[in-house]
Amino acid sequence: MQERNAGASASASMNERMNSVEVFDGIRFPGFMHSQESLRAACGFQFKDTDILLVTFPKSGTTWMQQVLSLIFCEGCLWPIHHLPNWARAPWMEQISFSHLVTQLNTSWPRLLTTHLPAKALAAALRTSKARVIYMARNPKDVLVSFYHFHKIAGFLPDPSSFEDFVDEFLKGTGFFGSWFDHVKGWLGLQQDLNLLLVTYEELYQEPRATIRKLGEFLGHPLGPQEEAVILKHCTFSFMSQSSMVNYSLLPKDIMDQSRGKFLRKGVVGNWKEHFTPEQDEKFNVVYKAQMGDSGLCFPWTMD
Ligand code: A3P
Repeated sequence: MQERNAGASASASMNERMNSVEVFDGIRFPGFMHSQESLRAACGFQFKDTDILLVTFPKSGTTWMQQVLSLIFCEGCLWPIHHLPNWARAPWMEQISFSHLVTQLNTSWPRLLTTHLPAKALAAALRTSKARVIYMARNPKDVLVSFYHFHKIAGFLPDPSSFEDFVDEFLKGTGFFGSWFDHVKGWLGLQQDLNLLLVTYEELYQEPRATIRKLGEFLGHPLGPQEEAVILKHCTFSFMSQSSMVNYSLLPKDIMDQSRGKFLRKGVVGNWKEHFTPEQDEKFNVVYKAQMGDSGLCFPWTMD
């Protein structure tokens, strides 16, 4: 893969981009959908007080939460769920397509935005507004496993050499999108500064109704029992697996080859247990403790 840094030309063809890497602030991003310009533009984005920003490290349940957020604001009108792909309903701020997609957003909803960028990239822009931030986190062992499988189907990411190497890279934080530990600690370190709600994959999985209710309240959009029922029905794993608007089947095979594995793969809590050897688990726990031990953060997942 070819690496590009700040100052690189933006005129690469689609094919060249597929195999390229944008290094931004020391973090590697797939060049297929990122450029130095798009990454820089995100950092200087002018938020509105009404904006809602979904922040995740990849594979933490981004698409799931995009679906939930769209459903919260659709007020019973399911047209967007059935006709607009998730990336058009809640576009990624740092991607090349953003400048176009943001102009197409439904003006009767608050703007739903998504990002995988680290906190330090967006904190300054966010502090100038009252935009609401939803940080979605997931047990990093499940994130790692999901990301490993995603690398196999995404044409814009290199095939992982082995699971063992993938674990090492994840723990070092040298993989695509940087360090999970820095991402989580960076964003959750801003809880006092920003209008930020932490939601976990695990709580949405275990207590979907209560989690959706909590989201509605945080977003100033309290939900009635009927609205809750509609949301719950359209954000299940089985519904989303069948919906081309969220299962990424709209993408051609060279971008996402789902004959090698599905984007909506397992959709469960604790699948890491079927992947980690006892040695890998032990190695992971040592790093997790060193990185998170005194962070003061509290999550609903267990590491064993
Ligand atoms: P798995 O690979 O563990 O199955 P992201 O959208 O951030 O890329 O995250 C993708 C992960 O979220 C995948 O995890 C996917 O299956 C899971 N996911 C997406 N929708 C889901 C849903 N409705 N219920 C449970 N998990 C879901």
